[in-house]
Amino acid sequence: MKHIIIASVLTMMSFSNTFAADIELPQPQKTGGMPLMEALSNRKSTREFSQDKQLSTQQLSDLLWATCGYNREDKLTIPTALNRQEVSVYVITPDGAWLYAAKDNKLIQVTNKDVRDYAAAQDYAKQAPLNIAIVSDKDLMPNDIYAGTDAGAAMQNIYLWCASNGIGTVTRGSFDGENLAKALNLKDSQRVILVQTVGY
Ligand SMILES: Cc1cc2nc3c(=O)[nH]c(=O)nc-3n(C[C@H](O)[C@H](O)[C@H](O)COP(=O)(O)O)c2cc1C
Repeated sequence: MKHIIIASVLTMMSFSNTFAADIELPQPQKTGGMPLMEALSNRKSTREFSQDKQLSTQQLSDLLWATCGYNREDKLTIPTALNRQEVSVYVITPDGAWLYAAKDNKLIQVTNKDVRDYAAAQDYAKQAPLNIAIVSDKDLMPNDIYAGTDAGAAMQNIYLWCASNGIGTVTRGSFDGENLAKALNLKDSQRVILVQTVGY
């Protein structure tokens, strides 16, 4: 009986911790920004990031919506082959990592550990306050070329949003995919395709 009570309390604690660590995002701002041709002119990779200056929650919401949010009832800002919508997006900061729940416009915490050592091989990215992992699910999209193509669309949306907002970014294939997948609690069928560093 004692065990049952302790187990129930632990379950309640872990649920309340999970909820407490989730983050409701403000509604993304879907208007404005730089004209497309100017954003394309400014698109580039940068590899120097401030460790202190961070994006606001509003900027993060806008960025995530641009990356892989819903721009119609059931369709995304990125195209996906056969509309499989196999791409998911994780936010990685020194305080932990979160899954972007696009429909609910919130971040669901998957760990409260700093997983940047797995998310980055290069020091500039390990020290940056924000990395975005672009994840694909083989159960939904078994074709590697399509999986890479769809993830690449999310990658380019990040580049263009950053260019439009005067924020630096670089996409990276250099990360520890196996350990990062474990740290993000991914399913066996999921893998990280790219990790993109974003910041000032
Ligand atoms: C699939 C892919 C993987 C990349 N991996 C890395 C990486 O691990 N580290 C890095 O610093 N840059 C990486 N880059 C960024 C490229 O080096 C960069 O896009 C290229 O040098 C051209 O520069 P630009 O983006 O400024 O045009 C990657 C780019 C792509 C598309």
